[in-house]
Amino acid sequence: MQKRESWNSHVGFILSSVGSAVGLGNIWRFPYVVGENGGGAFLVPYVIIIVGFGLIFMIIEFAVGRYHQTSILSCLIKTSKKFKMPGLFIVSVSFVILSYYLVVLGWILSYTIFILTGSFQDFESFTNSWLPVFSFVIVLGFSYGIVRRGITRGIEKLNKIGIILLISLLIPLAIYGMSLPEADGGLKYYLTPDFSKLYEPSIWSTAFGQVFFSLSLGLGILVTYGSYLKEKKSLVTSSSIIVATNSMVSFVGGLMIFSIVFSFGMDPSAGPSLVFQVMPSIFSIMEFGTIIGVTFFLLLLIAGLTSAVSLFQVSVSTLEDHAGYSKSKSSSIIAVLLLIAGIFSALSYSSANLQLFGSPILDLLDTYFGTYGLAISGIVFIVIITWFMDRRKILEQINLNSRIKIPDSAFSIIKFTFPALVILSILFTIIVEN
Ligand code: PHE
Repeated sequence: MQKRESWNSHVGFILSSVGSAVGLGNIWRFPYVVGENGGGAFLVPYVIIIVGFGLIFMIIEFAVGRYHQTSILSCLIKTSKKFKMPGLFIVSVSFVILSYYLVVLGWILSYTIFILTGSFQDFESFTNSWLPVFSFVIVLGFSYGIVRRGITRGIEKLNKIGIILLISLLIPLAIYGMSLPEADGGLKYYLTPDFSKLYEPSIWSTAFGQVFFSLSLGLGILVTYGSYLKEKKSLVTSSSIIVATNSMVSFVGGLMIFSIVFSFGMDPSAGPSLVFQVMPSIFSIMEFGTIIGVTFFLLLLIAGLTSAVSLFQVSVSTLEDHAGYSKSKSSSIIAVLLLIAGIFSALSYSSANLQLFGSPILDLLDTYFGTYGLAISGIVFIVIITWFMDRRKILEQINLNSRIKIPDSAFSIIKFTFPALVILSILFTIIVEN
């Protein structure tokens, strides 16, 4: 058995967790969700849910990992052998999400190169070629290279460089956006609060989903990262820093997106079309479009890669800790499996146009795994922890070296309210979408 790795420094651990949290969800999802849900008023449920649930959920995940010194599956099996299947379920959800997340990252890589070389293609012709498959393989290869190097030499190093680079690209881009002549309209749309929306349940379930996705909760990522902690620094403080940084990046991401999009009279539409159609068309007409465009896509690429390696590590550490394989063997096996699983999503947006039940496979996986799978995985996780794990030991980990103490009653509250709220949120999502 090899000796368990640990983070080189506490800052490295914090930056890597920030890297996992900050992703595509901050740059395109958050701004759009805010604009659609009452503008500035959305920040009310968002902050309440972050403080009331997101933060405590994150602290619990880290505490469980640090206490057991092993990744999610083995943590659950240590609690009871009967949790092997639920554990495997959580790992599988994170694996499937990663398989198509890497495909989207491949698109971003291609667009970075398109803009850099001035060979811009619209999304349609891009997805009518084999480039999406090719770029998926490259991004997968890169992530594999990082994870194979291990926690300190791979993941920690990538995040130390990546997060600094990300912040130094984001801030100038936001300042530039806000200095555009028509930026005001965008900022008004983004931030003017419509408090009447607070009475709509959907704004609350949307905020819940956004917090969950954005903090990378419920997939065993943070348990895994916590399991490489040796130092007993306060988890309450570390998690607060991670959550605050993540929210700041989302907020500034919104300032940037809305000022640019409104300045060019475009629609702040959601998801892929914003990133791959609206933004590129703006870059093609704006002054300094090449440099702004490359900065924007590079920002997304870094944000996405640092999230991808955290998902990757969940599966790799499962093989290391549960099956006892070496790091290189585990990462190679997972990389091959990802290649096989991800190729279907990649092909669904390529010349092959692979579909299932009339939808691209990537979209189906995103709905069933990225939305419902993620929520169910969160419930399974929190139910096992709060109902079956040794509560005293976990609380001891949580409150170790912390000036702010989380009381025992917090567990009792979460035990009931959390699963109920997630189920309500899922039901709302289903009702609103149909
Ligand atoms: N938190 C990442 C984001 O905001 C996405 C993510 C979700 C990454 C779940 C890993 C796991 O984009």
